[in-house]
Amino acid sequence: MDFKILAAPLKDLRAAEADALLVVVGEDTEPGSLGKVLGAALSQALRGGDLAYKPGRCLYLHHVTGVKARRVVFAVAKDASAKAFRTALLNGLASIKGGGTEHLLVASSLAQPLGSAQAQALPGAIDDSLYVYRHTKPSAPAASKLRRVSLACDVAESASVHEGLRRGEAIAAGVALARECANRPGNHCTPEYLANQARRLGKDFGLTVQVLQRKDVEKLGMGCFLAVAQGSAQPLRFIVARYKGAGKSAAPLVLVGKGITFDTGGISIKPGADMDEMKFDMGGAASVLGTLRAVAQLKPKINVVGIIPACENMPSSTAVKPGDVVTSMSGQTVEILNTDAEGRLILCDALTYAERLKPAAVVDIATLTGACVVALGHHRSGMFSTSDELAEQLDRAGQTALDPCWRMPMDEEYDEGLKSNFADMANIGPRAGGAITAAMFLKRYTAKYPWAHLDIAGSAWKSGAAKGATGRPVPLLTQFVLSRAD
Ligand code: BES
Ligand code: MN
Ligand code: ZN
Repeated sequence: MDFKILAAPLKDLRAAEADALLVVVGEDTEPGSLGKVLGAALSQALRGGDLAYKPGRCLYLHHVTGVKARRVVFAVAKDASAKAFRTALLNGLASIKGGGTEHLLVASSLAQPLGSAQAQALPGAIDDSLYVYRHTKPSAPAASKLRRVSLACDVAESASVHEGLRRGEAIAAGVALARECANRPGNHCTPEYLANQARRLGKDFGLTVQVLQRKDVEKLGMGCFLAVAQGSAQPLRFIVARYKGAGKSAAPLVLVGKGITFDTGGISIKPGADMDEMKFDMGGAASVLGTLRAVAQLKPKINVVGIIPACENMPSSTAVKPGDVVTSMSGQTVEILNTDAEGRLILCDALTYAERLKPAAVVDIATLTGACVVALGHHRSGMFSTSDELAEQLDRAGQTALDPCWRMPMDEEYDEGLKSNFADMANIGPRAGGAITAAMFLKRYTAKYPWAHLDIAGSAWKSGAAKGATGRPVPLLTQFVLSRAD
């Protein structure tokens, strides 16, 4: 998709070269601000009751006399925020995307001029609206014809709108990569597939990519990661991908993504219903790849390292069993009481590995607990941190990128549930507060650096009719990386 800005006054939109025109309107829109022709169309629609200034409302008009664009859509926004702009866009796009539009012109007639935040939201909204999974579905509907999107803005705002679009495009490309990876079924998206995705990023964007195999992981003493991987015929991979935007001595930001390419639960096997959804259990890994892609395109002056422990969680005669005790890379032992709590096992060794990178901060991202979905639903990611500063940065990044998270508590009382009679800790605690106990488990491996954990079990994918990956939290993470580089 080709995104451009069109620095032109609203009054001139009727003459603009495009085959569809999407105008975001709102309570404070003076129809007259759109010029005579479009203004008349809008006020007529308002007067006739065909459109009301109520958030969510849209009106599609065909062949408005005097307007060059063949299709005109008015979409009503709640206010001038980037979030309301995005919602209005998505509503408006619904009536255009199936048609023959190749070049779309987007404009806002809200009193407050469009800025970088709205512009940043545009590419992602277009992608979200047009995305169709097709890799294993030849019968999927034909791709949209849309090729070009122009965004009309004030001449005075054009520099910041341009910067917003640039960020938005990179983030959307990262989201697309994460979504596509996560949507791939488990027999396609294997640990080696993730490694290949990382290698490809390395080639295309100049990242340094290292892929460790079982032998390397054994040498490092990653007993917890090995325990999860040992039940599967798919070989494990441990991926380390480096983006260098700053000097060698600059401590890197480290992103660790859970890469379980399929989670059956292992010997503590999951119920059959909806188990297919556990192909999304590499959503954290996908978001690390997507973020690296976005960052490598934007080239901020910061060092970022992505770490992905990748394997399958399978039941078999070689699988780890409830009650088995294993030794993590940190030297702490773990009693595996439930083999379905595997995410924390692969992450804890990756978090210990992160120490050798002397990180400025470490953020892990994982579809870690069903309990997090119960707590926060599918809207906000769960965020846990041992650092108030880091927590605040992540919270702000999520708000700015319209990819919100919510900080959860980590009182030491929650740690008590992890007691084991046979090891330094158990891998599960009581059912209540399950997302928090999981975070408390990870915390035991992160004493050496500022750390945060994002539980994306709810936000990384949707269930039901719209089942599929969301590509989240690539927007949050990219915004966070950019904010750390500022
Ligand atoms: N991958 C799952 C978490 C999950 C569940 C993600 C539902 C998305 C939707 C994770 O490995 C898991 O199985 N967690 C267990 C932990 C429990 C055994 C302590 C869970 O949440 O039930
Ligand atoms: Mn599991
Ligand atoms: Zn899992």
